[in-house]
Amino acid sequence: MTLQIEDLTKEYLMGELTVSALSGITLNIEQGQFLVILGPSGSGKTTLLNVIGGIDRPTTGKILFGTNGKSTNLVSLKERDLTKYRRLNVGFIFQFYNLVASLTAFENVELAAKLTNPSDEARKISKELLEEVGLGDKSNKFPAQLSGGEQQRVAIARALAKKPKILLADEPTGNIDSETTGKILKLLQRVNENYKVTILLVTHNVGISTLADKVIYLRDGKIFGTSKYDPAKEKEFWEELTVAPPIDTAG
Ligand SMILES: Nc1ncnc2c1ncn2[C@@H]1O[C@H](COP(=O)(O)OP(=O)(O)OP(=O)(O)O)[C@@H](O)[C@H]1O
Ligand SMILES: [Mg+2]
Repeated sequence: MTLQIEDLTKEYLMGELTVSALSGITLNIEQGQFLVILGPSGSGKTTLLNVIGGIDRPTTGKILFGTNGKSTNLVSLKERDLTKYRRLNVGFIFQFYNLVASLTAFENVELAAKLTNPSDEARKISKELLEEVGLGDKSNKFPAQLSGGEQQRVAIARALAKKPKILLADEPTGNIDSETTGKILKLLQRVNENYKVTILLVTHNVGISTLADKVIYLRDGKIFGTSKYDPAKEKEFWEELTVAPPIDTAG
């Protein structure tokens, strides 16, 4: 799987005004890469994920999705084929876990697994994935009976249930305390490794970007910089995350 993004633009029409959300993004993404997209609010991060995931369409440019020696330009796909691309290839993880409240953890994952698998296979996959995310013993709980971090782990299992080639995560730890954030990030690193799934993770958190193979810095819809993985920086990130908060003993 490869993604070749060429000179991508996205404009939104707001009455008389045109908002330029992406302007001239060119980017190559390889199978199994862990990419982090960093940038201020309004810089186009979510828009970029949405067009790569086939949720939204760019205004101009190309998104070449390469698989099995074939290359497809997502931009020229009909609605039905774009839906098919999304369904078969893309898993999404959002900031607010978006689980179905009336379904158990298991059923939430199973629902997604059934999109691309026969029923008994879907059950098997769901069970395995809930174990993978450390929730084997809580698979019959409803979202409301789970903590934020646990709900996000269910959402990760759900996103993986169709064995996507691309995992898109928009601020997946935005609502989670730092200890749980650490666990979620370790989990994403593990699934990146074990399933060779390409991950694009959007965050405001500079620390999280130390885990990435490559960091893309967005500003005003443009890439204004990239940086490569540095093991020393990742080590520092984990050390800071595990330092216990100072205890005020004075009182
Ligand atoms: N549906 C829409 N209609 C009009 N303008 C939009 C729409 N979606 C996004 N925009 C505009 O496009 C620009 C990029 O938005 P986007 O949501 O991609 O930013 P972001 O980097 O994800 O920000 P945040 O960190 O706040 O989530 C912003 O100026 C935003 O107001
Ligand atoms: Mg956003």
